[in-house]
Amino acid sequence: MNVPFVDLPIQIKPFEREIREVLESVVFDKADFIMRQDLIDFENAFAEFIGVKHAIGVANGSDALNICVKAFGIGAGDEVITVSHTFVATIAAIVHAGATPVLVDVGSDHNMDITKLDEAINATTKAIIPVHLNGRVCNMEAIMDIAAKYDLKVIEDSAQAIGGMYKGKKAGSFGDFATNSFYPFKILGCFGDGGMITTNDSDLDYRIRCLRDNGQDRQKGEITDWGWNSRLDNLQAAILSVMLKQLPDMITRRREIARLYCDAFKDISDLVIQEAPTDDGDYYDAFQNYVVTTPKRDQFVKYLNENGVGTLISWPVPTHFHPNLKLDSFKLPNTERISREVVSLPMHPALTDEDVAYVTKTVKGFFSN
Ligand SMILES: Cc1ncc(COP(=O)(O)O)c(C=O)c1O
Repeated sequence: MNVPFVDLPIQIKPFEREIREVLESVVFDKADFIMRQDLIDFENAFAEFIGVKHAIGVANGSDALNICVKAFGIGAGDEVITVSHTFVATIAAIVHAGATPVLVDVGSDHNMDITKLDEAINATTKAIIPVHLNGRVCNMEAIMDIAAKYDLKVIEDSAQAIGGMYKGKKAGSFGDFATNSFYPFKILGCFGDGGMITTNDSDLDYRIRCLRDNGQDRQKGEITDWGWNSRLDNLQAAILSVMLKQLPDMITRRREIARLYCDAFKDISDLVIQEAPTDDGDYYDAFQNYVVTTPKRDQFVKYLNENGVGTLISWPVPTHFHPNLKLDSFKLPNTERISREVVSLPMHPALTDEDVAYVTKTVKGFFSN
């Protein structure tokens, strides 16, 4: 048997009829490609789903971060706090703005360790970028309190947590801005690259709408700032509108799979698993990834792969260990241990119970040997 880490053809199949209709209408009937009604409709639907006033479609999650940092005028001489245990794009946005990234360690849930925040803040700190990793929202209550205390901006990196919640509020509805990615492997993936910025602030919304469109205010015929060409394609938006309708069900299925994994693995002493999904806790995890850690990670991954179970390691080398990035002054013991021990098991809504049973049997097979 073979259970790949993700299986895009199978994941896309349930949407085939509706997406063929979208292609027929958006491409062949209307040829509506840039900033058309389908983009506006998806932005509105996405804002409603997250529970915010504004959503602005951009080309990808990395651009979303770049644009948000720029929108605050953050630059040389400023510091921005985030984590090393993230995709490099989070940190790159700070560096592209000319600011200095300050990296803090993560806690046992692989998200920003809020106890490390106070000591990372100084007079030049301008913003915090908490990253909601693997579908779990950070402790946003604590982060927003600290941001208010020191007058810092908050940009949530929600690329991995669309639909996740903390205390009943969705990822992307806490900070000044949140950034989202529709990369095909994501909880809500499109057919290529795509991203979204959300905010409740109407001035910031205006600024972002100009920045993503080369700084232009098309209505006034004015160029408001140096911007980018970073618009979400109208066709991708139309496809995403189809998928968004199924998103709650897709997340429910991810959580069912996570529960099956957690039940099967809870007694394996060499394997550390994440909290099982519950209906009444503070966290409603969307399970972008199902991550486990084990000191035997490399043999474990080899065994799984040899037995037809796909895996992904995010990330085998911590960002601050890449010599070209010149971030090696940071010492982040949890991040460094997680990079040595972490692996993600197959996780997507089209996994069958038989697939899950095969993965759990194979995992148990490794640890019983
Ligand atoms: C945490 C995080 N931030 C940012 C990004 C960047 O998103 P994109 O690939 O759409 O540019 C990703 C995507 O992998 C991510 O996982």
